[in-house]
Amino acid sequence: MDSSTPFLVLTFLLSCLWILIFFHQKQNPKSSKLPPGPPPFPIIGNILEIGKNPHQSLSKLSKTYGSLMTVKLGSITTIVISSPTMAKEALHKHDSTFSGRTVLHTLQTFDHHKLSVVFLDPSVHWKTLKRVCVTKIFSSSQLDSTQNLRLRKLQEMLEYANECCRKGEGLDIGELAFTTVLNSISSTLFSIDLAGYASGSSREFRDHVWGIMEEAGKPNIADFFPVLRVLDPQGARSRMDNYAGKLFKMLDDIVGERMELVRASKMESFTDVLGSLLSHKEEDKPQVGRLDIVHLFGDLLVAGADTTSSTVEWAMAELLSNPQKLEKLKKELQQAIGEEDIKMEESNVSKLPFLRAVIKETLRLHPPAPLLVPHKALEDADICGFTVPKNAQILINIWAMGRDSTIWCNPNQFMPERFLESEIDFKGHDFELIPFGAGRRICPGLPLAFRLVHLMLASLILKYNWKLADDLHPHEIDMEEKFGLTLKRVQPLRAIPTEVIS
Ligand code: HEM
Repeated sequence: MDSSTPFLVLTFLLSCLWILIFFHQKQNPKSSKLPPGPPPFPIIGNILEIGKNPHQSLSKLSKTYGSLMTVKLGSITTIVISSPTMAKEALHKHDSTFSGRTVLHTLQTFDHHKLSVVFLDPSVHWKTLKRVCVTKIFSSSQLDSTQNLRLRKLQEMLEYANECCRKGEGLDIGELAFTTVLNSISSTLFSIDLAGYASGSSREFRDHVWGIMEEAGKPNIADFFPVLRVLDPQGARSRMDNYAGKLFKMLDDIVGERMELVRASKMESFTDVLGSLLSHKEEDKPQVGRLDIVHLFGDLLVAGADTTSSTVEWAMAELLSNPQKLEKLKKELQQAIGEEDIKMEESNVSKLPFLRAVIKETLRLHPPAPLLVPHKALEDADICGFTVPKNAQILINIWAMGRDSTIWCNPNQFMPERFLESEIDFKGHDFELIPFGAGRRICPGLPLAFRLVHLMLASLILKYNWKLADDLHPHEIDMEEKFGLTLKRVQPLRAIPTEVIS
């Protein structure tokens, strides 16, 4: 053997080893670099650091570990994104890879996760449901054709506020908005009101929707440790089965009754969404069956009611604690719409730049879904040299982005004026303001939410002067937040409508 042979053999073996490691890492990037994050405890990971308000605690942690961070929630690897640049990487560059959903145990109720436009991974069925949303429910022409239904709901809201005004009684703005939004969505979908304003009247349905939001929003140990699901240690799943069972039963009855009418050909007068989904017309052939419609309507009512109404409630809270902004908005409304025939219509919104700025500023400070709806990586992906492993949960902390002083000056102040000279919009292209998400999982209800929040806020401001209940002063309004499926106020906003202008 020549003296160089051992050297050649060693070089050959090292090269093989290097090639093996290279291919192993390529095929199994989990072993490569996760984004940095706080060191996890054994078994529980970082659960204790997250606490009751994850959007706030994750925002603090990201100041130490960066805008792409890993936390372990029990056995779930979670990647937290807290900057517009990283959000764009996730929702634009890696849109399809990160478009899966982590499904909570409570949301597997009645196999909802297999039928839900919110919780299905992208699939043929999900695409069909999303297409139904975009073309049959939330298209401009469909929304224009159902505008009168919503204007009637707005009128009913004002009648109730008038009554409180006459009696000098305070009202709960969040509840008022919730009832109006719920009825506006249900009227748009199937021409039926689901709730009433007076306490006790038709509360049942509202309570089911609230119950679902609460159970889905509460941290559940069975999600951190899926092996515990069979035990349902907190009882969350059985409570959810109860609420969701009642909701789906009610919706199924509504759809069933309408199908009977269709069979008897007595439904010509229905211009609502259900009418269009059950239409006889060839070009409108139904793309979805009865069960799909029931679960889709359930999704739309739950996803739409709390998000939209809490936006109105936060906007009112900000305006009542900033009286000059409130006056500015009222002046804009009076000048554009006029005091004689005060009738706020959806088409008026384009003439009201300050109103639009108020809503953007509200959604910047108080996004109803501060971490969006959790996404899931469908494959391993590489972001800025780090690995996001397949099945990791992805949280996009838009609450942190909305309060980042490197993006917004005086980020904690309510300053709608910042949007008057700016082109930034919330339709999913400007990643510093994405309260409805972006990319393929963007909220399909945006066009309806847009009309409802502007219409309701403008009407409440235009029609009344407002006095805080319990003799509170504007600076005493409590702005504390409570994390759930949507970001709620800890203290509901109560105010007395006074001095009807018209
Ligand atoms: C101010 C009001 C609203 C806000 C801020 C809002 C926000 C959001 C957000 C952040 C998402 C998740 C996006 C993501 O995962 O990246 C979402 C999804 C969704 N929203 Fe909304 N939403 C609002 C109103 C509505 C309304 C009125 C409806 C329907 C009536 C609705 C129906 C849905 C549905 C069906 C999804 C699931 C889409 C999917 O997973 O593909 N939302 N919304």
